[in-house]
Amino acid sequence: MPSTLAECAVAVLSTSDARAKTSLSRAVTAAFRASQAAGAPMPVGHAAPPMRPARPARPELLDPRDVPRRKPGSPEGRIALLHAIAHIELNAVDLHWDIIARFSDTPMPAGFAADWVKAADEESKHFNLMCDCLEAMGSHYGALPAHAGMWRAAEDTAEDLMGRLAVVPMVLEARGLDVTPGMIEVFRKAKDQRAVDALEVIYAEEVAHVAYGSKWFHFLCGRHDLDPKDVFHDLVQRYFHGPLKPPFNDEKRAEAGLPPDFYWPLAVSG
Ligand SMILES: [Fe+2]
Ligand SMILES: [Fe+2]
Repeated sequence: MPSTLAECAVAVLSTSDARAKTSLSRAVTAAFRASQAAGAPMPVGHAAPPMRPARPARPELLDPRDVPRRKPGSPEGRIALLHAIAHIELNAVDLHWDIIARFSDTPMPAGFAADWVKAADEESKHFNLMCDCLEAMGSHYGALPAHAGMWRAAEDTAEDLMGRLAVVPMVLEARGLDVTPGMIEVFRKAKDQRAVDALEVIYAEEVAHVAYGSKWFHFLCGRHDLDPKDVFHDLVQRYFHGPLKPPFNDEKRAEAGLPPDFYWPLAVSG
């Protein structure tokens, strides 16, 4: 294993097999935690991440308009939903390692990388949980087509750390908080306890990822003497394509340090 976090991040990003990617991601986290416990934390270092992460040959990536829709109430519909979530989780693994390597030239407190290592480890667990659920239903990740263009937010904000924080944790991951309770209900109705339990883990842990985004976004606003709400609105309008979609989970968003005056104006003005 490389000796710096940024190089480890690039190793995860460059791994194409999905289960191999998540197991390397979890192994790096374990090594990082062991180095912290030993009083000699692995340094962040510097490394240039690939523009796009390596991914498996399957799933086939399609324009969202071309991904076939399946009835949500049917077993096929639930497999399609789990497959879509697995795809999001795998993308999230890469996003969290990417932020560590991509912005390794920006001096940040040690807690910044440590937060994203923890988030990346949790995304790796989430992906594995979704794959386990798919396999229990006789399917697997790669069996269905998945959305192309998930990496777009990363490409758009590759030069802008505040833009990355605004769009990825504070918009995309916050959206996960809005929609996950409805997904849990789908699997509760179908009496699929394995999927309910997995989604409950995801729901509980995603709050912290949004909170890390908000924390470091506010930190950078303080560093540059900027008004957080105004800058957030500017950056989301610059990098996120389209309005934010209500209904919002105001309670969980507040828990994650995202007040309503950050997101509501972007829902109505588009
Ligand atoms: Fe996740
Ligand atoms: Fe997340």
